[in-house]
Amino acid sequence: MTEDIKKGLLGIVVDETEVSKVMPEINSLTYRGYAAQDLCAKCKFEEVAYLILNGELPSEKQLKNFEKVERKERKLSKTLLESIKNFPKKSHPMDVARTAVSIMGLEDKETKDNSQEANLRKVMRIFAKTPVALAAFYRIRKGKKIIKPKNNLSFSENFFYMCFGKVPEKEIVKAFDVSLVLYAEHSFNVSTFTARTITSSLSDIHGAITGAIASLKGPLHGGANEEVMHMMNKIKKPENALNWINNALDQKAVVMGFGHRVYKSGDSRVPTMREYFSKVARVKKDKKFEKIYDIVEKVMIDRKNIHPNVDYPTGPTYHLMGFDTDFFTPIFVISRITGWSAHILEQHAANKLIRPLASYKGNSYRKVVPLNQR
Ligand code: SDX
Repeated sequence: MTEDIKKGLLGIVVDETEVSKVMPEINSLTYRGYAAQDLCAKCKFEEVAYLILNGELPSEKQLKNFEKVERKERKLSKTLLESIKNFPKKSHPMDVARTAVSIMGLEDKETKDNSQEANLRKVMRIFAKTPVALAAFYRIRKGKKIIKPKNNLSFSENFFYMCFGKVPEKEIVKAFDVSLVLYAEHSFNVSTFTARTITSSLSDIHGAITGAIASLKGPLHGGANEEVMHMMNKIKKPENALNWINNALDQKAVVMGFGHRVYKSGDSRVPTMREYFSKVARVKKDKKFEKIYDIVEKVMIDRKNIHPNVDYPTGPTYHLMGFDTDFFTPIFVISRITGWSAHILEQHAANKLIRPLASYKGNSYRKVVPLNQR
């Protein structure tokens, strides 16, 4: 009997979710029923984080309390801070994020408690501390003093402040906030499914998020935004772009920032992120990357009918904001912790151990020959 193998679980529906859906009728990603681009226009990231975790947009009072908890939890333990100071300076920031969350798990008093209430409290600690841990490493590896979080700054403002020592223009902060909203959640992508798989054995939330970070690092997933920047740096100038991308396709290269398992005629998040990429380029008076962006995009669509995904505009935007290239995917992490956590809570609420089957292609049965006769 030949099994019907769906490599990569292509097209396989494995569970239900209420967190998000790409709604074809409006060609848009929606979080708990709200279109992502609508949330970008009308909400700040903290409101969307609350929505994804709790299922409803917060009232002013609920938002105030949510922000109060997030800001209170920004403080890192002495152990975590000392550990970060001793990480190898050459560590990839994604490995720093993964390790920092693991250390948080070692220390968290509620690690063993998988109740929804305890998990939500742990989520707030991971959500609040991970950006602070990353920013601390950002400073340390440059030989600079760590900048402590400022609790009168928003989530986005505070990340800039801790990395660069100042909050940039409001257009830059808004573009960053929009990128966090767009990165927050995307149903059963590979890192979210990793988190759900780990959760399905009733393991703890720190382990599930650690696994998700490891999965997101891959260039076929979140790591693509970093690879997009490496590609643009190789292209260097707009006049090189046409030849560069045509040569890449002639060599059958996989072009990072393009294609998607779910979207086959364009990632619904791209138009919004592209608009904010332009705004940032205008503020920074640097149009070079936009020119490269447009030339590469046109060839990919004309030659392969493959459209950009959200990582394509986000890469150059983060570059123009001044972040080191290897910090692009960690920014994806500090946003996606919300989506991962919502799915972890959902998995617990209706759990079934995730254990697929495999089609065996190995040796048929054979007897063991003792060593002295082999
Ligand atoms: C994210 O799932 C999510 O929701 C993820 C995400 C989220 O928010 O969580 O949206 C975030 O991870 C976005 C994707 C970022 N990754 C990249 O940009 C890496 C480059 N993209 C490709 O590796 C690819 O498009 C995938 C992995 C994203 C999706 O690939 P699939 O669905 O497994 O399809 P495939 O690789 O089998 O490609 C089908 C065909 C192949 O050609 P043939 O072998 O059939 O001739 O399309 C080609 C591929 O070669 N193709 C590409 C391509 N993407 C697909 N060719 C060149 N460059 C590409 N980027």
